[in-house]
Amino acid sequence: MVLNVQATGHEMTMNCGLQHHILSTSAFLALAFSSCLFLSLFVCDHNESTVKARPESELRSKYVREYVQNKAVNLSDNVQADQLVSGKDCSIAVERRYDCGRDRALTQAQCESRGCCYVPLTGSASSGPPWCFYPATYPGYKMGALVPTPRGQEASLTRSTPSYLPRDITTLRLEVMAEEAGRLHLTLKDPVLTRYEVPFVAVSPSKPTETKNLLYDVEYQPDPFGFIVRRRSNGLVLLNTTVAPLLFADQYLQMSTTLASSVVSGLGEHYTGLTLDLNWTSVTLWNRDMAPHSDVNLYGSHPFCLVQEGDGQAYGIFLLNSNAMEVALQPSPALTWVTTGGILDFYIFLGPDPQSVVRQYHQVIGYPMMPPYWSLGFHLCRWGYTSTKATRAVVQKMHQARFPLDVQWNDLDYADKRRVFTFDPQRFGDLPKMVNEFHELGMKYVLILDPGISSTSPPGSYKPFDEGERRGVFIRNLTGQTLIGKVWPGPTAFPDFTKSDTVSWWEECIRDFYTKVPLDGLWIDMNEPANFVQGSINGCPDTELDNPPYVPDVIGGQLNSGTLCMSSKQNLSTHYNLHNLYGLTEAMATYSALLKARASRPFVLSRSSFPGLGRYSGHWTGDVRSDWEQLRYSIPAVLLFSLYGVPLVGADICGFEGDTSEELCVRWTQLGAFYPFMRNHNDRPNTPQEPYVFGQEAQAAMRDVMMLRYSLLPFLYTLFHQAHTSASTVARPLFLEFPSDPNCQTIDKQFLWGSSLLISPVLEEGVVEFPAYLPPGMWYSLYNGKPYSSKGQYLLLSAPLDTINIHVRGGHIIPQQTPALTTTASRRNPFLLTVALSTKGWARGELFWDDGESLNTFESGDYSFLIFIAEQTQLVSEPLRVNGALDGLVLGEVRVFGVPTPPTGVWANGREVQDYSYRSDTKVLTVSNLALLMSETITVQWKL
Ligand code: NOJ
Repeated sequence: MVLNVQATGHEMTMNCGLQHHILSTSAFLALAFSSCLFLSLFVCDHNESTVKARPESELRSKYVREYVQNKAVNLSDNVQADQLVSGKDCSIAVERRYDCGRDRALTQAQCESRGCCYVPLTGSASSGPPWCFYPATYPGYKMGALVPTPRGQEASLTRSTPSYLPRDITTLRLEVMAEEAGRLHLTLKDPVLTRYEVPFVAVSPSKPTETKNLLYDVEYQPDPFGFIVRRRSNGLVLLNTTVAPLLFADQYLQMSTTLASSVVSGLGEHYTGLTLDLNWTSVTLWNRDMAPHSDVNLYGSHPFCLVQEGDGQAYGIFLLNSNAMEVALQPSPALTWVTTGGILDFYIFLGPDPQSVVRQYHQVIGYPMMPPYWSLGFHLCRWGYTSTKATRAVVQKMHQARFPLDVQWNDLDYADKRRVFTFDPQRFGDLPKMVNEFHELGMKYVLILDPGISSTSPPGSYKPFDEGERRGVFIRNLTGQTLIGKVWPGPTAFPDFTKSDTVSWWEECIRDFYTKVPLDGLWIDMNEPANFVQGSINGCPDTELDNPPYVPDVIGGQLNSGTLCMSSKQNLSTHYNLHNLYGLTEAMATYSALLKARASRPFVLSRSSFPGLGRYSGHWTGDVRSDWEQLRYSIPAVLLFSLYGVPLVGADICGFEGDTSEELCVRWTQLGAFYPFMRNHNDRPNTPQEPYVFGQEAQAAMRDVMMLRYSLLPFLYTLFHQAHTSASTVARPLFLEFPSDPNCQTIDKQFLWGSSLLISPVLEEGVVEFPAYLPPGMWYSLYNGKPYSSKGQYLLLSAPLDTINIHVRGGHIIPQQTPALTTTASRRNPFLLTVALSTKGWARGELFWDDGESLNTFESGDYSFLIFIAEQTQLVSEPLRVNGALDGLVLGEVRVFGVPTPPTGVWANGREVQDYSYRSDTKVLTVSNLALLMSETITVQWKL
C-alpha cells in the first residue's frame, strides 16, 4: 500500500502493508488497547528480510505515478530513478536519498550487504547525494503501545534485525512530553542501562500541557518507528522522521527528518552566513581551538536550529546532546543528526513566530545573565602589552586622544612563566597598583585565565597545581593519573569543573588572586579545552572512546586532535561525553568564583560555548583575521549567538590575526560599536591597532562612533534587561522582527538592536555608498532625523568613511545619555530622548536603570523602570518604579523626529521653554537645556 503524506509542498511516499499506519497519538492509544487489531497493525513489510520482492512492473508503474505527482524527482542525473536493485525499492528521488554509509565510505558490495541501494551518480562519491542510500523500506525499530505517564506518554521500541553498527541498543524507551503549548519534548533512551545525559542544561516543567492547547500534533509510524510533527493551525509537516531508519547503537545514534523549508539558521559554531547551505553539506559540532574559517568545527557547539517556514512562522529543533555530532543537510530539505553517544533528547519549539521560538528555546537552556553596565563600554586588549608600563601607556594615550575606554585588558603577558594565578614580578610587579589606578580613573580591568594549570613548577612553588593535585581536582587519564597536556606554560593539568571540589578550589584560586589583584572580570580562553599535543603528552590509550567506530568530520581527523584523550575521566563521566561542556562548566565555576570574591555582578568572557553559556558568560568569536571577509561574517556570528542565548557577544575589532589597514579598522570600529560586546584585540606580531595609532581622519571617525555607542548605552542596557527577563534578543536578525517580510529571511549584512535601531555598516573596501534594505515602515536617520518611508525596499545610502548608517524605526523612543570617556562618568550625565514618531504620530520606549553592578537587582526589585509615550504633540516620561540609582539624574534634551509643522510653542512640565529649534527640511524638533528629574513624571508638549 502506498501512503502519501503531504510534506513541504511535495508528495512523499512510503510503502507499508497498512493503509493508516500513521496514527495520531490519541487514535494510536485507542487502537493500542484493542489488542487484536493492535497486533495486526504492526504487520508492515518494512523489514527487508521479510519483504517479498514486488513485480518490477508494479514498481515501475508506482514510479511513473510518483514522477507525475512529484516534479521534484530529478531525472537530469545520469541515473534513472526507477531502480530495482536486488529486490529492493531504490526508486527514490536523488534529493531524497538518505545516506546509508554516513559512518564510513562503502563499496558497492559493502553497501548492498547492508541491504541498501547503490546507485552511483556523476561526480564524486564523497560529496553531493549519496551513492549508497536506504531503500524505500528498511528495517528499524518497532514501536509498542503508547501508554500515559505523569509527564506525557511512553512506548517501547524494539529492534529485531541488527543494524550494521556495533552494539545496537535493541530496546529503547520513547518518552513524549507535551511540556508547553509550543514545546514538544521527546526522548529516546536505553530503558535498562543508564546512558550519559547532558547535566545542568535543561529546565523542564513537571506537568504536561493539555492536548487541546498544543500548537502541534504528533503522529507515529510504528514499524519501522518514526514520527511526524505537524503544525496544528495549517497542517504543515515540520518534521517527518519516517524518511530514514532510526539508528541507536552505543556510539552511533542517527535520526533523519524532513524540514518544512530550506531556510535554516543555527547548528553553530561555524563560519557561515545567517542561514545554512543545505546543498549536501554537513556541520560538525565539536568544540575546538580553531581560528574561524569555512567548513570546520569551531570553539562552541549549539545543536539548535531555527527553521523559517516562509509565511512568517518558524519552529526550532534542539537536540540536547553533548557528544561529538555531525548534522548532514540536504536540499529536499532535510537533515540527519548523527551523534556519537548519550541519548536522543529532542525539543521542538513551535513558535509560531521566530522570536517565540527563540524564547521557547531559552526557556529550556536558561535566560541570559544581566551584564554589568561597564561591560557595555569599550574594551581594549592586545597580546603583547608586555608590562604594566606598556599597559599604562596605552590607557594614557587613549585618554589623551579622548577615546572612551571602560575596560583595559591584559593577555597572558601578565603571568609569570605564563602560569595563571601569578604575575610576572619584573614586568608586572606593580599590577595591583596599576589596577587600582585604573579604578581611580573610573575604569575596570580584566585579564585572561586559561584553564591549563602548569604541572612542572618545583613542588611547593606553585600552589594552584600543588593544591589541585592534593584535592584531586584534575582530569585523570584511563589509569587514574592526572592527565598532562601542553598549553602556553608547557605541561599542564586540566581542572575537572564537573567536580564540586574543583569548583571550590577554583573559587579559592580566584579569591586568593583577587586579594592581590582587584580585577573586575575574567576572560576564560583556551577552554575547549585546547591542548598543543594530541590527547596528552603520553598520547592516548587504544580504547573504544579514543578510537570510536565512527568519528564525525572533525578538523584534525580525530576527536582528541587539539584536545584531551577521550577516555580521560571526569567526575560526571568521560571526557568523550563531557568535552563539549568544558567551557560551560568552567564559565559556571568562574562566574560563581567572581561572585563570591567581588560580591557583585560577574563578568566572564568565554571562548568555548554550549547551550546555557549565556547564563554565566559572554563570548567573543575567537581569532578572526584582519580582513574584509571576516568583518562581514562577524555579523551572522554575533546574530547566531543571540539565537543561542548569548547576547553579550562580539568579534575582535580590527581583527586579531594579521595586520589591519586603517580603512578596515575604521569600518570594523563602526560595526564593532554595535556589537553588544565591543573589544579591540590584537595578536602579538601585528602592527598596532589601538584607535590612537591612526591618522586624524580615521581617529575622528572612530571617536564619533564610540561616542555614539556610549550615548546609546541606556538603550543597550535596557535591551539586555529585556533579554535577561524575557529572552528577547539584543543584536537581532531582521527576520526576527519582520518575520512576514520575505526580504528579511536571510539578511545578515544589516541587523537591529532590539526592534528599533537598524544598523547598516560598510563591509567592503573602498565602498562609500551601498544599497541597504529598509523594512516596511517609517525610518529616520539617527544622526539628523531625516525620514525614509519604506515599502520594504533597498535604498542607496551614502556612507563616507566617517559614517555608519543607523536608522530609528518610527514608533520607538530611544533613551540616550550624553557620552563620556567611561561609563562611570556617562552614567551621571543628562539623558536625551530620541522620539521617532510613527506615521500615525505616536511612539513608545522604556528604560531599565539600576546601579549597573549589583546582582539580581530586577529579581530583588532594586531598580528603576520608566516608560516613554509620545503622541502627536506630547511626550510623557512615566517612572513606574524608582530606586536610588536614578537620584539626581535629569532629562537634558528631547529630539522628536517626524513633527509635521513648526511648533508655535513648547512646554516642559507645564512651563514654556525657549530653548527649542525646528528644522523644516527634516521635520525635527529639538528641545534642549532641560533639567527635569528622571525620577518624576515628565511632560514635554509642543503646539502645532
Ligand atoms: C587565543 C585567544 O583566542 C586569543 O584571543 C589570545 O590572545 C591568545 N589565545 C593568547 O592568550
